[in-house]
Amino acid sequence: MFDRVWTHANLATMEGEGLGVIEDGAIAARDGRIAWLGPRAALPGPAAETTDCGGAWILPGLIDCHTHLVFAGDRSDEFERRLAGEDYAAILQSGGGILSTVRATRAADEATLLAAARPRLAALMAEGVTTVEIKSGYGLERDTELRQLRVARRLAAELPVAVRTTLLAAHAVPPEFAGRRADYARLVAEEILPAAADLADAVDVFHDRLGFTTEETLRVADAARRIGRPVKLHGDQHADVGSAALAARLGALSVDHLEQANAAGLQAMGRAGTVAVLLPGACYFLREANRPDIAAMRAAGVRMAVASDMNPGSCPTVSLLLMLNFACTLFRLTVGEALRGVTRQAAAALGLDDRGRLAPGLRCDLALYAIARPAELCYWIGRNPCIGRVLEGH
Ligand code: NIG
Ligand code: FE
Repeated sequence: MFDRVWTHANLATMEGEGLGVIEDGAIAARDGRIAWLGPRAALPGPAAETTDCGGAWILPGLIDCHTHLVFAGDRSDEFERRLAGEDYAAILQSGGGILSTVRATRAADEATLLAAARPRLAALMAEGVTTVEIKSGYGLERDTELRQLRVARRLAAELPVAVRTTLLAAHAVPPEFAGRRADYARLVAEEILPAAADLADAVDVFHDRLGFTTEETLRVADAARRIGRPVKLHGDQHADVGSAALAARLGALSVDHLEQANAAGLQAMGRAGTVAVLLPGACYFLREANRPDIAAMRAAGVRMAVASDMNPGSCPTVSLLLMLNFACTLFRLTVGEALRGVTRQAAAALGLDDRGRLAPGLRCDLALYAIARPAELCYWIGRNPCIGRVLEGH
C-alpha cells in the first residue's frame, strides 16, 4: 500500500542523459520517499490517496543551489548609480556594494531578517523549488554571520522547504579590516568558521580579483576541511584567477560563476567532478560581456548546474524559472541541460544524492507544472506554470 499516488502525469525523471521522460506515468510515495514510478498502466498497488494530475508534468522538485536570500535593505539606489555610469567594482571599492548590505544586515535583528527573507523564499517555492541553498556573507563578523545562518535554518523549520546553509564569511573585507585582508581571512579560518560548525553545511569563498587571493582561499578551505565541511567557490567571475583549477585541486563541490575561467581549469574540473554553477542572472544584471565557456565545459564533461544567485547587488531576482530562460538565451544551454541544471546537477553542487531525480528510494520532492512540453519551463519569460509542490511525499 502506498501513502499517495499521482497519476495521469508526464514524468521528467532526469535519469540517463536527457530528461528521462515517461509519458502518461504515475509516481507513488511511501514514508516520504519515492516508492515506485513508471507508466500509469503498470501502477502496482493501491494507495491511501490518489491525485489525478490531468496530464500535467512532474519534475523532481527544483533545487536553487546558490542564493544569498537572507539580507536586509536593498540596493536599488546603487542600481540607479550604475545606470548613471558607475560600475559594480568601483561602487564596492568605495565602500558601497556588498558593504552597504553588510551595514544593513549587521543592524537587523533575527526577526527582521526572517521577515525580509520569508517572501523571497516563498516566491522561489511557488515556482516548484523544494531545496534551496542559503549563504551568509553579509555579516563579515562572527555574530552576524551566525545570525544569517540561524535565520536560514529557521526558514526551513517554518516553511515546507529543505534548506542547505553555506558560510560565506570570506565574501568581502569588512571595513574594520580595510587594508588587512589577509588578517580577516585568518579570522574567518580561525574564529568564524569553527564557531559556525553546527550551522553551516558547506563553506564558500569569493576567490576573485575583488575578493580573496588563492593563499587566503586555501587558508579558509583548510579550516573547512578541519571541521569536515565541503568547499564551494565563487570563482573566475570578474577575472581569470585560476578558480577552476584551484577548486578541482581542493575537491570542491562546485565553482560558481566561471565567466572568465580558462579551458585547462575547466578540464581539471571535469576530471575532479567539480560542478560548474552557472548564474546567468548576474551576467544579465551586471551586463557582463564575458560569458562562461559552455562549449569548453561540454567538451571537458563538466556538470553544469543553474542557480538564481538571488542577492541584492548583482542579481535581485526571486525566480529560478527566469534563470532557466536566461541560461538558454544568454548561455545557449539546451533545454535538457538547463532543466538538469536546476535538478540533478544542482543536487550534485550541494553534495546531495538523495534528490534531483525521480527514482525509487529518493526523497519524494516533486514539482507539478501545467505545461504541454518541458521546454515551456525555459521558454516563457516571467510566467509561472507551477500548480503543485510535494515535499517528502506531502
Ligand atoms: O554572487 N561575490 C559575489 N557575491 C554576489 C554578489 C553580492 C552582492 O553584490 O551583494 C554574487 O554575485
Ligand atoms: Fe553569489
